[in-house]
Amino acid sequence: MDQNAPILIFDSGVGGLTVYDALRKLLPDAPVIYAADLAGLPYGTKSEAEIAARVAGLLGRMSERYQPRLICIACNTASTIALAMVRETLEVPIVGTVPAIKPAAAMTKTGVIGLLGTAATVRQAYVDNLEAEFAADKRLLRYAASGLVGAAEAKLRGQPVDRAAIETAVSALRSMQGGEDIDTVVLACTHFPLLVDELAESFGPDVQFVDGANGIARRIVYLTQDQPFDRTLGARAVTTGDIEEFTLLAPTFATYGLERLDRF
Ligand code: DGL
Repeated sequence: MDQNAPILIFDSGVGGLTVYDALRKLLPDAPVIYAADLAGLPYGTKSEAEIAARVAGLLGRMSERYQPRLICIACNTASTIALAMVRETLEVPIVGTVPAIKPAAAMTKTGVIGLLGTAATVRQAYVDNLEAEFAADKRLLRYAASGLVGAAEAKLRGQPVDRAAIETAVSALRSMQGGEDIDTVVLACTHFPLLVDELAESFGPDVQFVDGANGIARRIVYLTQDQPFDRTLGARAVTTGDIEEFTLLAPTFATYGLERLDRF
């Protein structure tokens, strides 16, 4: 194992930073490349075929270029649609992001769970299967909150958060049958933990939030145990989009220890 081989963390935008943040606490010495497919953002409003083709194609090219030791698809939309396909085509270990329905089912006291994801995620059979397996005796209320993706992207660029998008998502869940009893909300999009303060304010103090970041980070630690790490080459972020626009995110990325920004 080349000790400089990076862990590649992939998302459509800044959402994967929530996973990277959990990972760097556990593996501070791991070399990392954070890849943001900003040219493809948002994924959540695209079709399954488009997302699968895009993610599989990009990850193939990225793995040739960067020779990662492991790829983390830090995006629920991409994972619920393309994980199996990417695993079939690439040799490198792939860790995906799964909506945290199992822990939410263990946490809820009222038995009513809200789930916020992108439109593409909430309609996946993958989510139906998780619900059937882990929350069959609960009520799971799903809402496609694609508007929150842009709100999170804006927040990390230092722009004001779109409060209307937050209110729309919260009142949509609350107004569903049983919605007033929601006590646990699954943040099934990696962008959404970036808005947890705003969501908490709007939902009120009796609602707890759960996402997959810590579980994913632990899985990566497990899969890379005993491997040597050398972070001399540093951690960096790459984008498929416009590099000038990407540099607007430089101060944010720097707070995550990602000092170098490049174009893929
Ligand atoms: N961060 C991605 C997710 O977890 C989706 C954002 C997008 O719509 O591109 O689903």
